[in-house]
Amino acid sequence: MAQRTKTKSRTSSRKKATTRSTARRKTTRSASAKRASPRKSTAARRRAVPPAIAKAAREMSKMMEGQPAPSDAIALLEKDHREVEAMFETFEKLESKAEKAKLAAKICLSLTVHTTIEEEILYPPAHKKIEHDLVDEAIVEHNGAKQLIAEIEAMKPSEHLYDAKVKVLSEYVKHHVKEEQNEMFPQLRSSGIDLRKLGAQLMERKAELLAAMGGKA
Ligand SMILES: [Fe+2]
Ligand SMILES: [Fe+2]
Repeated sequence: MAQRTKTKSRTSSRKKATTRSTARRKTTRSASAKRASPRKSTAARRRAVPPAIAKAAREMSKMMEGQPAPSDAIALLEKDHREVEAMFETFEKLESKAEKAKLAAKICLSLTVHTTIEEEILYPPAHKKIEHDLVDEAIVEHNGAKQLIAEIEAMKPSEHLYDAKVKVLSEYVKHHVKEEQNEMFPQLRSSGIDLRKLGAQLMERKAELLAAMGGKA
């Protein structure tokens, strides 16, 4: 009986030691995985960016280099709005499928970067300082646009509904831009938020995102 108890206790100690050592291995692995994760996620993002989008990102990044910094956050965002509106207008006139694919990639990229910098840098302070319903609605509208962007990026211009999706995206964006410029931006102007500082942050993040999507980061 005493022998059985000893054996049981030895087995139990071995089990505990094994559990401890497995836990240590898991901790070590998860710590090193955490350390490696930023590099891994950048590489994963690079792999996930379609070549047409990566090329558009490099072109946009190059264009940004020679441009003067915008006076503030609103100036930067309104400039983005005008640029994407112009691209949608050009898209409507295009006949060539190759040109449509190239421009759609640029439109999708611009909107992805624009919505990301708004959500990361502008909307959080705006939510605290202005009518928060406006900001909440803007986030929901972004989500609708992102869904269409993902569908367009996964399609070819020869596919059924491609043009219709780009058209509906342009209408979404037109509506959203109107609300930002007519309702959100005037409230931001009198909110006390430092729009010059925010403008510099938006610009910096935009350059960073373009570099990452273009494969430079
Ligand atoms: Fe916007
Ligand atoms: Fe927006």
